[in-house]
Amino acid sequence: MSDAILSIEGLSKQFQLHEQHKLIPSCAHVALQVFSGELCALIGPTGAGKSSVLKCIYRTYLPSAGRMLYRDAQGHVTDLAQASEHRMLALRQNDIGFVTQFLHCLPRKSALDVVAEPLMSRGADRSLAHYKARELLARLNVPERLWGVPPATFSGGEKQRVNLARGLIARPRLLLLDEPTASLDPATTERVIELLQAIKAEGVAMLAIFHQPGLVQRLADRVVELKPPVAATDLLETCAS
Ligand SMILES: Nc1ncnc2c1ncn2[C@@H]1O[C@H](COP(=O)(O)OP(=O)(O)OP(=O)(O)O)[C@@H](O)[C@H]1O
Ligand SMILES: [Mg+2]
Repeated sequence: MSDAILSIEGLSKQFQLHEQHKLIPSCAHVALQVFSGELCALIGPTGAGKSSVLKCIYRTYLPSAGRMLYRDAQGHVTDLAQASEHRMLALRQNDIGFVTQFLHCLPRKSALDVVAEPLMSRGADRSLAHYKARELLARLNVPERLWGVPPATFSGGEKQRVNLARGLIARPRLLLLDEPTASLDPATTERVIELLQAIKAEGVAMLAIFHQPGLVQRLADRVVELKPPVAATDLLETCAS
């Protein structure tokens, strides 16, 4: 698999709608490689399956076909399409981070706790995790008055920055980013770009979905374009063929 951290071949995911006897494709025949210290941009029209690819890698979705070879720090290769839940839990805790399009958080946890949590679950003590969380929130321009407040009531852009800080704090080896600047103003977007550039320089491998060509141009070392998958097929036809 060369020296890529992640190498994907023939990845496809489809959903079965049993009531309507339909197979809904969400991504099809995806191939890509991600390298340490590089950002691979995933682009394509809405509905092309970009988020589905990230969800397959993180195993929120179980792929229908294909291989996703992940190489860990010891050089051990795991096919994420076949890995056990136990292995995936360990990889999510130590290796692979995912900044999703939306922040899902517990209503009573402060922003600081939400951001610090991935570091604490890796064994860091609370004061160090909070120190790093404060540093990141400040760097991402989140007003200090919000740090002690649960993010449930935050604006879209504030939530997005909390989500980013949470994804970045533990410095995963592979970081998956789903439209990380979608709800941010130009000045805040600039801060995020600087942070992603710094993280790239530290050697983190990133696979990121962007809709703005300007961001792709500035951040991407390679670009993979997804085409929308073909229309839904009839489940009975597929089974017969
Ligand atoms: N859980 C699911 N169940 C059924 N269909 C799904 C599911 N997840 C994704 N799909 C379908 O797969 C297709 C691709 O969705 P996906 O969210 O991956 O697209 P995307 O490229 O990220 O789009 P956008 O740019 O709008 O975020 C869509 O047609 C979507 O309806
Ligand atoms: Mg998406």
